[in-house]
Amino acid sequence: MSETPQPADLIVFGGTGDLSMRKLFPALYHCDRDGRLSPETRIIAMSRGGLDDADFRGKVDAEVRGSVPVDDLGTWQRFLDRLHHVSVDIGGEDVTGWAKLTALLAGHEQRSRVFYLASPPMTFGPFCRELHRAGLVTPASRVVLEKPLGRDLPSAQRINDEVGAIFDERQIYRIDHYLGKETVQNLLVLRFANAFLEPIWNSLWIDHVQITVAETVGTPGRRGYYDHAGALRDMVQNHLLQLLCLVAMEPPSRNDRESIRDEKVKVLESLRAITGGEVDRFTVRGQYTAGESGGVQVPGYLDEPDSTAPTEASHRVETFAAIRAEVKNWRWAGVPFYLRTGKRMPYRHSEIVVQFKDVPHSIYPGSTPNRLVLRLQPSEGIKLHIMAKEPGAGEVALKPVPLSLSFAETFTSRVPEAYERLLMDVLTGNPTLFMRRDEVEAAWRWIDPILSEWESYGTAPEPYPAGSSGPAGAHELVSRSDRAWHEEYPA
Ligand SMILES: NC(=O)c1ccc[n+]([C@@H]2O[C@H](COP(=O)([O-])OP(=O)(O)OC[C@H]3O[C@@H](n4cnc5c(N)ncnc54)[C@H](OP(=O)(O)O)[C@@H]3O)[C@@H](O)[C@H]2O)c1
Repeated sequence: MSETPQPADLIVFGGTGDLSMRKLFPALYHCDRDGRLSPETRIIAMSRGGLDDADFRGKVDAEVRGSVPVDDLGTWQRFLDRLHHVSVDIGGEDVTGWAKLTALLAGHEQRSRVFYLASPPMTFGPFCRELHRAGLVTPASRVVLEKPLGRDLPSAQRINDEVGAIFDERQIYRIDHYLGKETVQNLLVLRFANAFLEPIWNSLWIDHVQITVAETVGTPGRRGYYDHAGALRDMVQNHLLQLLCLVAMEPPSRNDRESIRDEKVKVLESLRAITGGEVDRFTVRGQYTAGESGGVQVPGYLDEPDSTAPTEASHRVETFAAIRAEVKNWRWAGVPFYLRTGKRMPYRHSEIVVQFKDVPHSIYPGSTPNRLVLRLQPSEGIKLHIMAKEPGAGEVALKPVPLSLSFAETFTSRVPEAYERLLMDVLTGNPTLFMRRDEVEAAWRWIDPILSEWESYGTAPEPYPAGSSGPAGAHELVSRSDRAWHEEYPA
């Protein structure tokens, strides 16, 4: 039986932004609709917007209602009634917003109090200091940090130090929404609640692993942000490395707040460093040029419509990254982990492909090795490709057929969005699916030498046409060892 939800105060700093409107409020509405929020739980948005509660409720009504299933106006109104807005400007002179927040929270010190920082990372430290100054950080408080957590190891350490000066590590929840996806949870269940996979989950049986996060979108209007981010910082340092950790980690002794995270850190610390001349050999960076995507002609990265003209940084930034990584331990010695992410790719899909080795001695011509495909998007599911005999008399003809688990078809209940799960975990104080400081910093420690080598090149990334599956170098990265990227796209 599920527990009765406890009252909580969720303070969303950056509550008028894109992330809040597209992800957080729809997720919170779903939690409310499913009865997972206490009637007394309040959601307090903060921004510089100068809105009062009624203005803010009107904004959410206008911007969020169309994206969620509102089958009952009473439930929607109950959700709107939870919402409040407080105006503050971090770095500004006006302190009336802090007084208003203090008044709203007064008398509710015993509740779970969650500060969700959905604002630019440079506001994280100052915001935490203001909270402390206003005396709002209670023992029952938690703080959620959105990505990106820094742009390299020193900047990540600075943010961690600033937030860590106000909150204990146990109160800090660093979010990577990929960890809230059902397939990711299912990867752990598949590995650790079934006996058959674990004996073959190693270099004796697995040839290689591929992790792909492909987007069809480009970056129109986002040059200011993207020029200084790039695919490696934006996607690989967090999402792809987290997925790699879950594939490669040892079985944890318990499913508790630290055991899984301990094992993930060990994986990150076992990654073979890619430095100096090896960067050129084991990594590929690309930038999209004009091409056809989704049936329409789209411009290249440098010609995307934007309020600012391309700069030197625009010419250098990668919209595609591929890496051949290795986990140096007994289980994985010699097994490449190919990571790849890009914008303006032919299909939007995220998947983990575990490619098994061929049978030791084949008696059938035409057999191909088994493959396990875990799809994270667009629709979540798991497929194990096995060889089967095609029906018919005469010569035995083989065909790879998938044993398929589609969550949407197998389970009739709605597949929740990752943010729903993660928001509920924060509200109930379960940090298992959030990143610990040592994890984030270990990931940067591995990424930094690649970044600095790329930055030292002084050359543009390899071009690839929008709508293609990345630059030629990415194919070369895998074909060099007689492998190929898994290019079977979901319907
Ligand atoms: N958008 C996404 O899909 C996404 C995904 C993953 C992570 N993130 C991360 O989430 C954070 C927010 O992203 P976003 O896309 O939502 O950005 P955004 O649309 O620019 O929104 C930023 C929010 O922060 C507020 N804000 C900014 N500076 C402020 C200040 N000095 N004082 C008070 N409020 C301030 C803004 O409100 P006012 O301008 O009204 O003050 C707004 O509510 C970023 O760190 C981003 O990297 C975003």
